Amino acid sequence: MSSEDRKNGRDNGHSPDGIGISIGLTVNGRRVSLDIPPQLTLLDLLRDRLSLKGAKRSCDLQVCGTCTVLVNGKAVSACTYLAYEARGAEVLTIEGVADGNRLHPIQQAFIDNGAFQCGFCTPGMILAAKSLLDEVPRPSEEKVKEYMQGNICRCTGYRKIVEAILDAAGKTVGPTG
Ligand code: FES
Ligand code: FES
Repeated sequence: MSSEDRKNGRDNGHSPDGIGISIGLTVNGRRVSLDIPPQLTLLDLLRDRLSLKGAKRSCDLQVCGTCTVLVNGKAVSACTYLAYEARGAEVLTIEGVADGNRLHPIQQAFIDNGAFQCGFCTPGMILAAKSLLDEVPRPSEEKVKEYMQGNICRCTGYRKIVEAILDAAGKTVGPTG
């Protein structure tokens, strides 16, 4: 445990006072059961307990969206979402988005449209975009911009990200709406 983690009251998996909660959840289609301290965040569970490093920590304040994952299909900021709240839920991280070696259409669209540079924000962007397109398969450009406001990118200037999501929407099977 780092001194910074101690200062934040975060222990990344081991309760200092021995109080723990047993939870079960499904992560990327795999059922997992863990004993966790009540204050453990979903981001720490994913990164430190399950070694799923795709969801990134940046602001740690539910502002930037780099930690976005889906819980029962809805986008959440894993940095402030308590892990025990995900008990019994289906969690999807970027590691579970592709179908084997076949990229998800949104992942392919990000590549085709050059929608990332450093890539730090990209897992969160793709999962937020997936939650949008699952809900609204044919969003307007304005809807995409509005929905993606919670995901910050320091590199791309957003235009290519919006283009990628609209491109993916055109390739995703679903009703017009
Ligand atoms: S790290 Fe979670 S919203 Fe920024
Ligand atoms: S691609 Fe670098 S932060 Fe978005």
